[in-house]
Amino acid sequence: MRAHADFDQLLQTIVDDLAPERGAGELADYIEPLRRVDPLSFGMALCTVEGELYCAGDATQRFSIQSVSKVLSLTLAMQHGRHDLWRRVGREPSGNRFNSLVQLEHERGIPRNPFINAGALVVTDVILEMLSDAKATLLDLVRGVAGAADIEFDREVARAEHETGHTNRAMAWFMKSFGNLQGDPEAVLDAYFHHCALSMSCVELARAGVYLANGGCTPEGMCMLSPAQTKQVNSLMLTCGAYDAVGEFAFRVGLPAKSGVGGGILAILPGRFSVAVWSPGLDRAGNSVLGTMALEQLSSRTGWSIF
Ligand code: DON
Repeated sequence: MRAHADFDQLLQTIVDDLAPERGAGELADYIEPLRRVDPLSFGMALCTVEGELYCAGDATQRFSIQSVSKVLSLTLAMQHGRHDLWRRVGREPSGNRFNSLVQLEHERGIPRNPFINAGALVVTDVILEMLSDAKATLLDLVRGVAGAADIEFDREVARAEHETGHTNRAMAWFMKSFGNLQGDPEAVLDAYFHHCALSMSCVELARAGVYLANGGCTPEGMCMLSPAQTKQVNSLMLTCGAYDAVGEFAFRVGLPAKSGVGGGILAILPGRFSVAVWSPGLDRAGNSVLGTMALEQLSSRTGWSIF
């Protein structure tokens, strides 16, 4: 691994080299607040397991982390050690779009994995069974790991998710009909929509995710998960973290990662660092076009991957 002093330069070179590609891909258009994001935005931040931070581009600008939050909600559910979590949600890639309903009918309302919408709704239900306020608890967790007490839910995004989330609503009620949601589906949806609406920067996201590179503990020694649980979350990120393009993503990048339709991606090199990238233009699967390119460049130029 090169001297840490070179990291800022490395990230800056990647951001500069990819400048001609800024604006590639399509913005998520299902809600208005995501449609008005500047399509040219592009940021990158890397946090080492020692807690050193390096960044380039629009790394301090906050954006809607969307499905990257599924890693954090899964962490919260696993922290409380519900014995039935893995009976209610699987650990296989779905091969379908993240909001697909089709498998649920044939698979007894049990989602393939916690990183598709149906799976995250079950995870949220599990959290709500244990904690009275799933929104506030997740917000506290995120603020703690990111080291930023002013991280908030974007209320406008949460409201827009509520107003347009008919497929998620159908999914929640469908799983309720199979007995795989215990609580009120509307309460589960409300918490889930807020989790998707977390607004964070690349710097905050890289800091927030570094426990996954460090056996479950932050550089400051705050332990979120055991090393065994951390391995499980990273494995799920590798196999299920990039929607139904996860094979292509692993082929190109070679790191466990979770993407969101806001254009953010959090990737992990266990034992070394977390890296967050953000560019809002998406490919057809919903992964950031430039974000994927940037991670591919990072792993190809340096050899930093898990393989
Ligand atoms: O729930 C939804 O469909 C949106 N909030 C999109 C979330 C996302 O990034 C993709 N999900 N896996």
